[in-house]
Amino acid sequence: MGFFSRRRRHDPKTAQISVPKFEPSQSPEKRIDIATTLQYGRATGLPALADFVREFTLDHMLQGKLAYADDRADILLTCGSTDGFSKVVGCLGSPGDSMLVEEVTYPNALQTATPYGIRAAPVRMDRDGMMVDGPGGLRDVLENWDEERNGRRPHLMYTVTIGQNPTGVLLKRQRRRQIYELCDAHDVVIIEDDPYWHLQFTAESHRKPAAGEKPTYPFLAALEPSFLTIDTAGRVVRLDTFSKTIAPGCRMGWITAQKPIIAALVGATETSTQQPSGFAQGMVAELLCRSWGMDGWVAWLESLRDAYEERMLAMADILESGKELITVVSRDDLEVVERTQLYSFAKPDGGMFVWVRMNLRSHPAYRCFLARGNTKADLMAKLWDWNVLTQLVLASPGGIFAAAEGEPRDKADECFRFSFAAIELDEVKSATARWLKGTSEFWRLQAWEIEKIGEDETVVGAPGAAAAKREGGRMGRVLGRQDETGGRV
Ligand SMILES: Cc1ncc(COP(=O)(O)O)c(C=O)c1O
Repeated sequence: MGFFSRRRRHDPKTAQISVPKFEPSQSPEKRIDIATTLQYGRATGLPALADFVREFTLDHMLQGKLAYADDRADILLTCGSTDGFSKVVGCLGSPGDSMLVEEVTYPNALQTATPYGIRAAPVRMDRDGMMVDGPGGLRDVLENWDEERNGRRPHLMYTVTIGQNPTGVLLKRQRRRQIYELCDAHDVVIIEDDPYWHLQFTAESHRKPAAGEKPTYPFLAALEPSFLTIDTAGRVVRLDTFSKTIAPGCRMGWITAQKPIIAALVGATETSTQQPSGFAQGMVAELLCRSWGMDGWVAWLESLRDAYEERMLAMADILESGKELITVVSRDDLEVVERTQLYSFAKPDGGMFVWVRMNLRSHPAYRCFLARGNTKADLMAKLWDWNVLTQLVLASPGGIFAAAEGEPRDKADECFRFSFAAIELDEVKSATARWLKGTSEFWRLQAWEIEKIGEDETVVGAPGAAAAKREGGRMGRVLGRQDETGGRV
């Protein structure tokens, strides 16, 4: 089994790995061969790979700081975090439950929970993540839970704490501890979904070890630690994935939790996926356990962080430079400079996304557009169309991340989520600049011109838009539909 591309065989960046057919000299616990990986295997996964992941998680990710004894925790290989989450919800949730979530969140998680009869209970967020205090904060939601109106009190929380999808916020220690204490007091199990844990961009995450500190991997030691490091009660179930570090298509990840929970999840695995695909396990095990080893794997994670941080900074710089539309108008024989704020955003502390809040009210045609019977969401949809059609730039509409209708949806409807993950640095720069150009042009359109966008393939106004429209019209509609149905984002 080779891991190479024929087309790029001579590209020095392309490596080849091979998984041997038989490895009779190795004990069954250590074998990484095709004869083993392509047979029916254990629900706990290929032993050699499970050992590697266990060591990485307990010794290096958690720095040996699991809040209870290491021998009371375990890991379980999964077919990715979506699979892991589905099994956790299936084991720990019941129809009629409510699950605490950030007010905007990864939509797939909500869609996974819904068929189990589990509803979202949104908690307000600020720039530091899920809020603890204040109206709509965690304390308010838990202490003022109305059982008559909302049913049973929530005993599950789903949270994305690092580079949250979609907002990019990072939950720091103090807030993390407050959230944990509240969950402990109200007996809530915390499902910590952290696919972006290694992508932390804060000053703290770049910290060098202090004198006297000698961590095995300074990169990992400087990262914000998991809830598991403060989990004295064993109420945290952590989801990790190889989707953001090796490839989404390998469909592999792992769960870390106390052993009785892992035992229940092993049972759920035996009757569903049985184990991750043998092809994927063979290749990932060969890569991690033999080709890279722990040092190579951690070095890879660090290099990913650096590459994504560079892209994030490039995107944030361009967005920052274009936040205001500057126009010079003549008024009473004077030339007056007018500044219009188009949007606001915060540089993400981690992950793959920038969350941009549009200042729709600053659009000169805002009132007129609404007076003609349109809504704020219509204006956002037209802006989205416009940038797809004229600039070939596709942002995710914020509304699809709302955890509930009402206030969360209204707030999210004013936002776009940009991803800097799927394209190279140069394309990040040019796509962001194009979006900015399109948005500035959109702010100059009149209400009737906005209404016409996307109608019968007509793009009004934009210079040179016709050619882009022909391509973008097609692409925009296809991708747009995928996003709007809440497809994988
Ligand atoms: C928060 C979050 N969880 C899970 C996933 C998907 O993980 P997996 O591919 O391992 O199922 C994503 C991917 O976008 C995500 O953002």
